[in-house]
Amino acid sequence: MPNIAREELKPEESEQLLLLPGGHPPLWNHMDSIGPVGLRQREGAPGCSQEGLPCPSDSSELPVSPQVLACLQQFKVTETQLRQIQASLLCSMEHALGGQASPASSVRMLPTYVGSTPHGTEQGDFVVLELGATGASLRVLWVTLVGNEGHRMEPWSQEFVIPPEVMLGPGQQLFDFAAHCLSEFLDAIPMDKKGLQLGFSFSFPCHQTGLDRVRQSGHGDSGWKVCSPMKAIGGLIQVFCPQSTLISWTKGFRCSGVEGHDVVQLLRDAIKRQGAYSIDVVAVVNDTVGTMMGCEPGFGPCEVGLVVDTGTNACYMEEARHVAVLDEDRGRVCVSVEWGSFSDDGVLGPVLTTFDHALDQESLNPGAQRFEKMIGGLYLGELVRLVLAHLAQQGVLFDGCTSSALLTQGSILLEHVAEMEDTLCPSSPLAGAARVHAILQDLGLSVGASDAKLVQYVCAAVLTRAARLCAAALAAVLSRLRHSRELQMLQIAVATGGRVFERHPSFLSILQETVMLLAPECDVSFIPSVDGGGRGVAMVTAVAARLAAHRHLLEETLAPFRLNHEQLAVVQAQMREAMVKGLRGEASSLRMLPTYVRATPDGTERGDFLALDLGGTNFRVLLVRVTEGGVKITSQVYSIPEYVAQGSGQQLFDHIVDCIVDFQQKQGLSGQSLPLGFTFSFPCRQLGLDQGILLNWTKGFNASDCEGQDVVCLLREAIGRRQAVELNVVAIVNDTVGTMMSCGYEDSRCEVGLIVGTGTNACYMEELQNVAAVAGDSGHMCINMEWGAFGDDGSLDLLRTCFDANVDQASINPGKQSFEKMISGMYLGEIVRHILLHLTSLGVLFRGQQTQRLQTRDIFKTKFLSEIESDSLALRQVRAILEDLGLPLTSDDALMVLEVCQAVSQRAAQLCGAGVAAVVEKIRENRGLEELTVTVGVDGTLYKLHPHFSSLVAATVRKLAPRCVVTFLQSEDGSGKGAALVTAVACRLAQTACV
Ligand code: G6P
Ligand code: BGC
Repeated sequence: MPNIAREELKPEESEQLLLLPGGHPPLWNHMDSIGPVGLRQREGAPGCSQEGLPCPSDSSELPVSPQVLACLQQFKVTETQLRQIQASLLCSMEHALGGQASPASSVRMLPTYVGSTPHGTEQGDFVVLELGATGASLRVLWVTLVGNEGHRMEPWSQEFVIPPEVMLGPGQQLFDFAAHCLSEFLDAIPMDKKGLQLGFSFSFPCHQTGLDRVRQSGHGDSGWKVCSPMKAIGGLIQVFCPQSTLISWTKGFRCSGVEGHDVVQLLRDAIKRQGAYSIDVVAVVNDTVGTMMGCEPGFGPCEVGLVVDTGTNACYMEEARHVAVLDEDRGRVCVSVEWGSFSDDGVLGPVLTTFDHALDQESLNPGAQRFEKMIGGLYLGELVRLVLAHLAQQGVLFDGCTSSALLTQGSILLEHVAEMEDTLCPSSPLAGAARVHAILQDLGLSVGASDAKLVQYVCAAVLTRAARLCAAALAAVLSRLRHSRELQMLQIAVATGGRVFERHPSFLSILQETVMLLAPECDVSFIPSVDGGGRGVAMVTAVAARLAAHRHLLEETLAPFRLNHEQLAVVQAQMREAMVKGLRGEASSLRMLPTYVRATPDGTERGDFLALDLGGTNFRVLLVRVTEGGVKITSQVYSIPEYVAQGSGQQLFDHIVDCIVDFQQKQGLSGQSLPLGFTFSFPCRQLGLDQGILLNWTKGFNASDCEGQDVVCLLREAIGRRQAVELNVVAIVNDTVGTMMSCGYEDSRCEVGLIVGTGTNACYMEELQNVAAVAGDSGHMCINMEWGAFGDDGSLDLLRTCFDANVDQASINPGKQSFEKMISGMYLGEIVRHILLHLTSLGVLFRGQQTQRLQTRDIFKTKFLSEIESDSLALRQVRAILEDLGLPLTSDDALMVLEVCQAVSQRAAQLCGAGVAAVVEKIRENRGLEELTVTVGVDGTLYKLHPHFSSLVAATVRKLAPRCVVTFLQSEDGSGKGAALVTAVACRLAQTACV
């Protein structure tokens, strides 16, 4: 941060000062050149108040004492110093934007979450409460927005003076006072007061959590405060509301128990205590944002909001990607600069006068808001008072007499300065001087002949410095804007608001001139905001209300996907019941198919085996070499085109044999008849290890003449149809069994196999005595649960949503695989797509524009969920994916799509977890164990690639089966290895049987 040196004027500098655009000689220059002999009016200038420059009311010169000159010179800020302040502030802005911890003494750059300037479509009646903009008063407005069409309606408004003890007392008292004023105002308004929505303009530095945004904190906890939870299916409907935590009071406020607290909640609580009206605080904005958003439509949009009232601050539309705290890469967001706190660490040292230090010491927050204390209307009067008291005590003013009023802090107000300074070049100089006399006499001062004029010079010096410092700060913001938009020339509209602008017309002209000097590459138009930003706050409230309404509709739509513990425990219990019924051979949606795999590998298996892996995303042919040293796999992926998967069975199995032959040739295995293990990931009733009757196809397969057939036979027939190929099909296993065996080879405690991929299913080692379909009551047998079909008997209907029904209706097997269709990769993308279509039809997403692309089946891939929910770059992923789908989206849309994906995948993972909990609890109880330690072998693209799925499954199992210590072991080589191991075990058992 460049240091700004206090320096004497060098000749060329005073020359520079002289050369301000438009040739206006600055106040002190006069003094420099004229010194103690007197001031001279500039020839031919119109009423000079325009230039905010003091000039004598009469043509005679005014002798100025060295003390007065020295005093006024302190308020001189050179062009060099202004440029240093501009550069230093710009540096501090970029520092804070980058998220680097910034010292208390720099600007804060607080994102306001206002992502767009008004569309003009905003409509409705809104109540606006303004607190803090105008110091010791608050204002309530009733604003009616009429959108583009209607005529602009004048707002109703009322101002209430805040008693000093309320500004300095307990926070609750202040908010109760505000709530009281609100109801007093509303009592007088002849309008319907139901469903009141309020925009809270709170003009102090606050950390906001958003207008309506959810911070990316993964599943469940959105980091938002739920305003009023309401009971609904699947637990709570969360109605979100903004949060705004006060960082520190400024501008004469010092209420206790507010800093660090959420001022929205404090206001809500006060309104509730008041109990007169039910008012929903929908948005909280800084007054600069209200000013910017209140920019007259004809001129705008304004992209900078500048307030100089009791305090001073500005906001502007920054590129969202430059605001480190936001995970955004596109669009703009309004940032409140909070430049009042700029440079308290002495960066402004050389420009600070002794009067500034005195004012700061006597202020409520010494050392803080130093920049504001040189510009804000709350302080200008006090600075003038301090100078006047000083000059009086030096005997060069008021005959060296002071008065108790002159020595009383706060006795000279902004209004006084405005009047006294404004009369510097009045149309009627006498009237002007008389007015100054009157003000000074009211302060108990005896005013000498030249005193009034000197007082006016002091006012002008203080005000001019304020305007120039404000200009330096604004020039920094404009340079930042031009820089962040990579523009040579920036054309911009700045909305201005605040009583310093209203009461000191010269303030704006000095500001304009100085901005033109410091930022010549910016063409700036200054637009006074109408009704002090009240309309702007109503605009933001309208946007927030619309977003809150959208959020409510989103929560309503997603509520059925938010399953609570009780609901998951019911799923677990229902699955357990269905398992027992299935094992007994009773009617159940779980077929609980014996697999004839009785043992997991014991490590003694050896040999070369061929394995096929059909039913997942890819069809694979594998050569598996099992040696003492471990298992070595060589595999090749082949595709199964849809027309083959949905063609004839013969075509499908011939295609499979073609792949095997191709693989054998490539591996130099042609003519060898290796034992083959066939992972066939569809429900098969096995009659033996190498006999499996296909019960029904799932996952998009529908080859004819296969259901009800022994697929091992179908494979052998296809091999038979192919000359010179010999294969020894030893075992057919389900992919869950293959996965369990494959992981069991690494971890002998692995007794459960889980697939969450295109489809989903699980198997586990059951006590043979519990398997009615297989003789024997000792030992174990692996059971293929085929849990994809769980709920086909309607037991899941309570949880099924209309979106699940849409997906099921559109599938090739409606009414089947209910559980699978709520969990697995083939369907999650489709569920999301149907929800997006629904939300678009409600106008919540994509501005209600339905696009052809989004109506296209399977266009929203399940892998998008994994990409979108990846913690980093989440919103960028959403945007990239949806734009590729030709969907125009706002950043709010992106967030909502992310939440839809999160809700759908969370439900899938929780349901899957409830299923696993049912299985491990069954094993634990089978063995009468207090605690079970077991490993679950897992495979499947969704489980492996989704960033949160696996941890959510594990978390759900921990909650629902606390007496089971479950390890999830991801299978590295897929179930092909498992099929080979099953074959190896079968071969080993066959050999021992022969011996
Ligand atoms: C692995 C296994 C297959 C299984 C598949 C399921 O690839 O080797 O046997 O069917 O996972 O996952 P997917 O996502 O491919 O459907
Ligand atoms: C099939 C199961 C298979 C699962 C995972 C389901 O559709 O019915 O047999 O294990 O998908 O691939």
